[in-house]
Amino acid sequence: MRREWIALTALLSIYIFSTSCSTESNTDKAQYRIDSLVSVMTLEEKVGQLNFPVGDLFNTGPTVRTAESARFDEQIRAGKITGLFNVHGAAYTARLQKIAVEESRLGIPLLFGADVIHGFKTVMPLPLAEAASWDLQAIEQSARVAAIESTAAGINFNFAPMVDISRDPRWGRISEGAGEDPYLGSLVAAARVRGFQGQSLADANSMAACVKHFAAYGAPFGGRDYNTVDMSLLSLHETYLPPYKAAVEAGSATVMTSFNELNGVPATANKYLLQEVLRKQWGFQGMVVSDWQSIGEMLEHGYVADSIQAGKLAIEAGTDMDMMADIYLKKIPDMVRNKQLKVEVLDEAVKRVLKLKMDLGLFDNPYQYSDVEREKKDIRSEDNLKAAHDIAKKSIVLLKNENALLPLKKDLKKIALIGPLANNKEDMNGSWSFFGEAQHPISILEGLQSKVSSTTKITYAQGCNLYDNSTALFNEAVAAAKQADVVIMALGESAPMNGEGASRSDINLPGVQQALLEAIHQTGKPIVVLLLNGRPLTLQWMDLNIPAIVETWTLGSQAGLAVADVVFGDYNPSGKLPVTFPRTVGQIPVFYNHKHTGRAYQGEHEKESLKDRVYRSRYRDVPNSPLYPFGYGLSYSTFEYSNLQVSAAKLKKSESLEVSIEVTNTSAVDGEEVVQLYLRDKVASVTRPVKELKDFQKVLIKAGEKKTLTFTLDINDLSFYNADLKWVAEPGQFEVMVGGNSQETLNTLFELIE
Ligand code: NOJ
Repeated sequence: MRREWIALTALLSIYIFSTSCSTESNTDKAQYRIDSLVSVMTLEEKVGQLNFPVGDLFNTGPTVRTAESARFDEQIRAGKITGLFNVHGAAYTARLQKIAVEESRLGIPLLFGADVIHGFKTVMPLPLAEAASWDLQAIEQSARVAAIESTAAGINFNFAPMVDISRDPRWGRISEGAGEDPYLGSLVAAARVRGFQGQSLADANSMAACVKHFAAYGAPFGGRDYNTVDMSLLSLHETYLPPYKAAVEAGSATVMTSFNELNGVPATANKYLLQEVLRKQWGFQGMVVSDWQSIGEMLEHGYVADSIQAGKLAIEAGTDMDMMADIYLKKIPDMVRNKQLKVEVLDEAVKRVLKLKMDLGLFDNPYQYSDVEREKKDIRSEDNLKAAHDIAKKSIVLLKNENALLPLKKDLKKIALIGPLANNKEDMNGSWSFFGEAQHPISILEGLQSKVSSTTKITYAQGCNLYDNSTALFNEAVAAAKQADVVIMALGESAPMNGEGASRSDINLPGVQQALLEAIHQTGKPIVVLLLNGRPLTLQWMDLNIPAIVETWTLGSQAGLAVADVVFGDYNPSGKLPVTFPRTVGQIPVFYNHKHTGRAYQGEHEKESLKDRVYRSRYRDVPNSPLYPFGYGLSYSTFEYSNLQVSAAKLKKSESLEVSIEVTNTSAVDGEEVVQLYLRDKVASVTRPVKELKDFQKVLIKAGEKKTLTFTLDINDLSFYNADLKWVAEPGQFEVMVGGNSQETLNTLFELIE
């Protein structure tokens, strides 16, 4: 028997490994190869292809695994695992791949997965920060660099991009996405998929993208990670689904289900999501992987009685691969034998996994991703660091700059640099940067030092720790501030304060950082605050009292350089917020594309009589408006908007409309502006948001120059999901708004006619 298998395997391998299937004309051949392979697989080998455990290099979930290498070798040999994640290194992955290819019965190559969320060894800014650049090319390039580096180290399956829309800054994973807006989020999602997957998935420096977490993982109640999600189908389709759809349309090879339940059904067994929306409506043909143990966690959700039911519902819904639950491996063979599960369902899932491996070129060259030479050459190359520097400076958002305190002169005599993040390298890497080494990033102190004149003295004082309540270091910091011409403070969150499982109920500066800021403020010295964080923070006091505030997020390997570029004016900040900054945590959710109410309150809190304020949709203690709105960000240039024009007052459904605007740089410095176009459908069969971003252009405008920009709107921009979830445009009046953020716009009207 064993000998027969070996003969069969030899024949199959000759066939499977010898034919390239990377071109379109080879699709049928590829399918034939996959079918042939499946036809000789045992039930155990089939479930092995669906079983995806974590490796032994590091852990990103609750199951601790150590020193399991020997066991992995055995499992690979026995065909019990489809690959491993959280392993990397060309030599290491090549060793494991060799066991799979040469020592397992069918020689099926392994996948190597990882969360390369924002760069590999060259660490890029957090995804939320990158979204603030509104620069799709730079974002794509950042993902490309991540792919070039990680594929050299064996990784061929990336658990990114995370495209979950979030309107809740308490949720720690808001840092991993592109913020609150479905339009911007969709463009960023597609750019990142293109970057990871490159020209062709079969290329040695392309890896499979995995759009996650499907779906609506960014809307948990209370902003608490993993919590319940319950929302109307309209909200789901209008706000939360578009970025996943865009990623699928951009060709994402895989999708990851989310931990949350959605409207009573866990996403991992949610037929509506996985079959109706993903496969039927969007035509997705790739592979779906569960999140970590999310198949097993359906027991805790109270959705299934045991792991057999969990496995059945998950695979029947369309979750092809089991990450970490071991349920498919352990339960499915008997379920098929006992007729609890049709073998066809299992085969479909296996075929999708094999197709992924084939598309990645693994059957042609299983070792193409484990390239020791390329690993030496491509990782942290000069070009990659340059790309990291470029996107890092573009991600910075200038929030306040009273009396043009910034940029600072490079020849100031004395600068005090204060704060727990000022001379800190490790936290520059941010959450989800397992590969970035702690000693690599350029700290803020190093960055500033590299720019100042030889006569400038920078005195550094830590001032306090990130979290604890000790004020022991305050005096030293206050003394340094007193001596200085200008104080720069680097305040915010440590890397682990955002990311998975890092929800916060309070989004002020942690620990005693606010108290430190107030103590330094007492000195009367001009202060520049550099914020380092992965989510919007509540900054009311700071906004009222501190003249210059710079949102630098978490910028990765080149953080210090990028920050110094902005502080000293070598780069004129051009970032805009991809997410609203609330005044207080009690306003959450506060987002720009909300609905009108029947009792809307748009007044200015203090100026109106009580009578005008009482029966209105508002708070008694804070205005409705956020502290910094979506799309907001200053520049060292000033821009004036004028002459908003539409090409016609009335528009037929078959026509398009041109919207033009003049933007003048009224300052003496060249600068980039993100010109944003919003629309409001004034009356519709389901109420529409007060505004929705529909287009934007990031343009360089020279000092004193006036540019006329033109946008083109068509029926798609005017359409929305109606009550039957049909994508329609309804005749009536539309308001078009153009400006430098979502709050300050020039507005005009036009009408859509039949
Ligand atoms: C759980 C996270 O939700 C997911 O995003 C990640 O890819 C997996 N763990 C693997 O680390």
